[in-house]
Amino acid sequence: MSDPTKPGDKRTTLKLIASVASLSVLAQAKASPFEHSTPSQTMGPFFPVARPLDSDMDLTQVKGKDGVAKGQVIELSGQVVNSEGKPVANAVIKVWQANVNGRYDHKGDINPAPLDPNFQGYGEQITDEQGRYRFKTIKPGAYPINPVNPDNVRPPHIHFDVAGKVDRLVTQMYFPDEPGNKEDIIFKRLGDGQKLVVASPAKNSPDMAKDSIHLNWNIVLPHG
Ligand SMILES: [Fe+2]
Repeated sequence: MSDPTKPGDKRTTLKLIASVASLSVLAQAKASPFEHSTPSQTMGPFFPVARPLDSDMDLTQVKGKDGVAKGQVIELSGQVVNSEGKPVANAVIKVWQANVNGRYDHKGDINPAPLDPNFQGYGEQITDEQGRYRFKTIKPGAYPINPVNPDNVRPPHIHFDVAGKVDRLVTQMYFPDEPGNKEDIIFKRLGDGQKLVVASPAKNSPDMAKDSIHLNWNIVLPHG
């Protein structure tokens, strides 16, 4: 057998390097689009302590009230999958977010911006057989994180708590083309994972209002 470490076997060594390189290219070509799990992020201080009266998938209306939440309506849909791309059915998804003014309905929020009595602020849903979920909400406002410096804000985001069959993920979803994303201390920490937490624009389906914006965001749990 030839010894690739000997100078006389240079051609064999080059062949070996070429085959390793081509195997690596093949591995990349076969890589699953779901191989990168959604990164976890801080839960933050504003998870609802008191359970709201309403927690359905439509955050733009509160049960028993006639009004509608202020702000740009967002239809957010997506799929929960495992690292092999298989749907995770019956995953429990909880979302919470600030209103259009950047204010959470939470006693710990010191933002002086007003509450919106018609905004639900929290929702729950269980994924279907295909791992799909959908929420109707509004785009949250950015909010100050430091009362001394009101220019220091967090960009619009929605908090997620996802419980699959095996994994539990607490994370945050961001909006596309937001200049504040790259300035955000939590978003910056994600490095290469940043692209995995930004929703993508999607086409409205017939059951969505024309003036709503449809965003899609898939969530990848390592083991489902
Ligand atoms: Fe937040």
